[in-house]
Amino acid sequence: MRFVLNGKPVEAAVDGDTPLLWVLRDTLGFTGTKYGCGRGLCGCCTVHVEGEAARSCLLPVAAVQGLRVTTIEGLAAGGAHPVTRAWVALDVPQCGYCQPGQIMAAAALLAKRRRPTDEDIDAAMAGVICRCGTYPRIRAAIHEAARIAATDAGKA
Ligand code: FES
Ligand code: FES
Repeated sequence: MRFVLNGKPVEAAVDGDTPLLWVLRDTLGFTGTKYGCGRGLCGCCTVHVEGEAARSCLLPVAAVQGLRVTTIEGLAAGGAHPVTRAWVALDVPQCGYCQPGQIMAAAALLAKRRRPTDEDIDAAMAGVICRCGTYPRIRAAIHEAARIAATDAGKA
């Protein structure tokens, strides 16, 4: 199986029906994407496929053959992405387990909506469960990330 992971071509000698999450973590060693339920219910395995948020536990690797996949490791080198900067600024994580999925879902939302409303955020993030209840900080950080991105765009 071949696809582009975080901007680089990768190859994995696995069956096409192997979940992408297993390939990322066990075959390629990208363990930033987390395993939670394995059934599409918790969202902590969220990655981007061609820029869209996707549950990697449900996606057979054959479905991403030839496509661009982005994980938390590739979101922005050195933590420069507005979402990661906002997450740090607002100290969002508690235990941290769900946060790669939260960040990837938030980044996918902001790629589509530069100024999301609370309702947009709630709709986009609803399927990403946080057992620690960091939802208020997540919502605030998404607004902060939108502000950071707008400031960056103004400087460009
Ligand atoms: S591990 Fe994929 S949605 Fe829970
Ligand atoms: S920070 Fe602990 S599960 Fe979300």
